[in-house]
Amino acid sequence: MSHRYTFETQLLHNKHKVDPATGGVSVPIQHASTFHQFSADEFGKYDYSRSLNPTREALEEIIAELEGGVRGFAFSSGMAAISTSFLLLSQGDHVVVTEDVYGGTYRMVTQVLNRFGIEHTFVDMTDLEAVEQAIRPNTALLYAETPSNPLLKVTDITAISEIAKSHGALTFVDNTFMTPYLQRPLELGADIVLHSATKFLSGHSDTVAGLAVVKDEELAKRLYSLQNSFGAVLGVQDAWLVMRGMKTLSVRMNQSQESAKKIAEFLHKQPFIKNVFYPGLLNHPQSDIQKQQAYGPGAVLSFELENAELLSRFIEQLKLPVFAVSLGAVESILSYPAKMSHAAMPQHERERRGISVGLLRLSVGLESAEDLIADIDQALNSAGIFAVKKEEVK
Ligand SMILES: Cc1ncc(COP(=O)(O)O)c(C=O)c1O
Repeated sequence: MSHRYTFETQLLHNKHKVDPATGGVSVPIQHASTFHQFSADEFGKYDYSRSLNPTREALEEIIAELEGGVRGFAFSSGMAAISTSFLLLSQGDHVVVTEDVYGGTYRMVTQVLNRFGIEHTFVDMTDLEAVEQAIRPNTALLYAETPSNPLLKVTDITAISEIAKSHGALTFVDNTFMTPYLQRPLELGADIVLHSATKFLSGHSDTVAGLAVVKDEELAKRLYSLQNSFGAVLGVQDAWLVMRGMKTLSVRMNQSQESAKKIAEFLHKQPFIKNVFYPGLLNHPQSDIQKQQAYGPGAVLSFELENAELLSRFIEQLKLPVFAVSLGAVESILSYPAKMSHAAMPQHERERRGISVGLLRLSVGLESAEDLIADIDQALNSAGIFAVKKEEVK
């Protein structure tokens, strides 16, 4: 029996490691939008780059193999991958969605799909009873994001896939926070796995991209037709950047995850911090499910300041993380969900979900954990001292 390579090795040793035409150890970037046909009777494999392009195809094949699916699709953004996959639904269908889903997905469901007669219900997917109760006769899809954004709630992928199947519905899982290195939803029963490849997969804050991988051929054919019809395909330079980034995925994830664990532990002990949300903490309500279905808790955590008034001061004092939208990069990124990733969600909806004005999300990069903790420590102290002084003035 031939030895099956580990994931780390598969990241480098796949069908595309050497260009068969030249021996080049990098996938060639094929800019051509159209391809000459050598015969009027028989056309070649490639005819027009929206339909198929060799550089994009390489990325699509690599991600399909890593996620354990039959076919991958690369889109111009994570939202393009998600929105195109939603087009598998039809007028009159109903979709059940993770409550604290990414703000852009929330906007797509509530402001776009609804106009095409596709209904939705948001549920806390950690509550399987609530998921069952949300199902209607016309439910065609269960859409999960796990760990969720920004509260890092963990959905049991096997359980919700089973619920979906028992009602004849599909399951989509947004795997952006985990990547296939840490979690492979198709192996757990999902039908489509989705990615903002802008994040950990490309990993360097230098490209916007989306991916979808499908488990069965029939669904893959339908999604291919939608990718070609809607046309939000990934450009070739960006496809190359994603492939380049993915080569170091495992080492980046390992390092960032180790630091994230240390930072979560540190924050957990701090007096000015009310809550730390991280599936790697023992007190996380679904840490057991995370251990069962994923190979680690990931490199993203959120925390809530005891006093939201200190938030601006704390952010201003931090020197290392960039304060920005996005996550999953070599540099640590601190985000403010209420005003960034979840700004598309109305305030009352955010508050109901626990996305408070004191909540910050940290995506841990490749700086040393020691430096990051020292930086957070000084910023917290400085914000805390400021708070005490303000109190004295009163
Ligand atoms: C979990 C998740 N899914 C999807 C997206 C959308 O991806 P993109 O920004 O590449 O369109 C994001 C973006 O932040 C995200 O965090």
